[in-house]
Amino acid sequence: MPLEDDEIEVHLGIDGHERTMTVRTDETLLESLRERCDRTSVRYSCGIGVCGTCTVLVDGDAKSSCLLLTAMVAGSDVTTPEGSAEEALTTAQRAFVEASAFQCSYCIPGMALAAQAARERDPGITVDELCDELAGNLCRCGSYPQIRAALERLVGESTSPAPAVTFEELTS
Ligand code: FES
Ligand code: FES
Repeated sequence: MPLEDDEIEVHLGIDGHERTMTVRTDETLLESLRERCDRTSVRYSCGIGVCGTCTVLVDGDAKSSCLLLTAMVAGSDVTTPEGSAEEALTTAQRAFVEASAFQCSYCIPGMALAAQAARERDPGITVDELCDELAGNLCRCGSYPQIRAALERLVGESTSPAPAVTFEELTS
């Protein structure tokens, strides 16, 4: 079928699979992944690059997919949270589960993917450095104490259970 004026054909690697798609020229990578590729772990929230729920890896680097046009990343390899866990949970995802580091969990796929990428880039990264890396990933439930506990597990600084947090602490 011929392309419309506002369409373009792109080739991408998505979670290790070659994919050719016809997309709108103004279509974000977030839209393409969710609506054309069924990657619903890539989540829409702010849409302006400040929350990190839409985090994916583009050629290994964590990026906000709401800020990227699909046409801009043609030819790249994109990894989504689903893709990173195709065969088994990643070590970061396992650390989040073991630390019960979530409430609604909306932020967690992007958070765990960014943490995994940072750890793979620098296996000696400390938990404070990891927290800095994740500064652009926000949790609207305020699960930060549990998230820090997960990051401590990830870098091997802790195997203790997640800290108990009161409702007042979470909502203050
Ligand atoms: S939805 Fe992309 S950074 Fe918030
Ligand atoms: S656990 Fe709900 S947004 Fe983070």
